[in-house]
Amino acid sequence: MDTELLEQTARELVSQGRGILAADESNGTMSNRLQAVGVEPSPETRRAYRSNIFVTSGYDSAISGVILFDETIRQKMDDGTPIPQYLASRGVHPGIKVDTGAKELAHHSGEKITEGLDGLRERCEEYFSMGARFAKWRAVIRIGDGMPSAANLSTNAHALARYAAICQEQGLVPIIEPEVLMDGVHDAQRCYEVTAEILDATFEACKIQGVHIPGALLKPNMILPGKACSDQGSRESAAQMTVDCLTNHVPHNLPGIVFLSGGQSDEDATAHLNLMNAMDGEHPWQLSYSYGRALLAHALQTWASGSNEDSQQAFLHRAKMNSLARSGDWSVSLES
Ligand code: G3H
Repeated sequence: MDTELLEQTARELVSQGRGILAADESNGTMSNRLQAVGVEPSPETRRAYRSNIFVTSGYDSAISGVILFDETIRQKMDDGTPIPQYLASRGVHPGIKVDTGAKELAHHSGEKITEGLDGLRERCEEYFSMGARFAKWRAVIRIGDGMPSAANLSTNAHALARYAAICQEQGLVPIIEPEVLMDGVHDAQRCYEVTAEILDATFEACKIQGVHIPGALLKPNMILPGKACSDQGSRESAAQMTVDCLTNHVPHNLPGIVFLSGGQSDEDATAHLNLMNAMDGEHPWQLSYSYGRALLAHALQTWASGSNEDSQQAFLHRAKMNSLARSGDWSVSLES
C-alpha cells in the first residue's frame, strides 16, 4: 500500500475551497433523470450532458475531483480526449463508483446490502491505469419500523471496510459512504442515533481490515429529520447535531468528510455546510462536499431546455456557493 500517495490524494481532494462533484449516477438513475426532463436517454445523451458540464470554465477552483460511472470513465470528450485524461488536465482528480448497487438483504424486507466485492481488485487495477485516483462505495441505511436491523448495519459496515482495503491496495483513495436516508417520519435525534451506530460499526470494521484512515475519506449524511417528520428543526440545529455526531464517532485522523446532499434543496445543502465551517474552533477534519443533485439539478434542467451555456452557469454558481461554504463565507444574499 502506497500510504504517501493515498494521503496526498486525500488531502488534495479536500484542499481549501474545493470539494467533489458526484457525477456517478448509474445508467438507470441517469436515464430516469434525463427522462424526467424530457430527454431520450442513451450513452450519447449521458455523455453529451456530462461532457458539457466538464468543459465549464472556472470550476477548477471549487472542484477537486469528479466521481464517474463505469460508462463515463470509458467515454470521450467532443474532441476525442478520454474523459479521465481531460479532467486530470484541468487539475481535477477522476474518481470512480465501484459498487454494483444496493440489493435486497436476505431475510430483511425493505433493507439493502451493497454489492460489488467480487472482482473488485481487478476493476480497481484497471480504473487506476485509466487515471482514477479515488473511488466511491455507497451503503444505504433506511430508518423505519424495526429498521435498521443489526444485520443491515453489520453487513454494510463489513462490505465498506473490505472495499476500502482493496481500493487502498490498488492506490485509490476510498470514499466510504454509509448513507442514512432522509425518507421517513423519524426525527433528527433518531437520525443521530442511527448515524452514530453505522459510523461506529464501519470504523470498527475498517480497523479489523487494516484500512489506513489518513488515506480515506468519509461521505456521510447530515443529521436531519426524515422528510415526513412534522418537526423539521432549524439549519443551526442540523449543523450542530451533525458536528457533534461526527466528533464523537469519526476518527480524528481522517483527513476529510465530504457530505452527500441526499435530497436536500441546493440552498440547504450549502447553508448547512457553511454553518458547520463557520463554527468557532477548528474541526479535526476538513468539512467539504461531494454533492450530486445539489450541484447539478438545476444544470440538468437548463441543459435539457437547450442551453449548454446556461447549464454551465448553473453548475458554476452552485460550485462557487459551496466553495464559499468551505470557509463559512457563504451568505444567502449571494444566491440572487
Ligand atoms: O451517492 C450519492 C451521490 O454520490 C451524491 O448524490 O448529493 O445527490 O445525494 P447526492
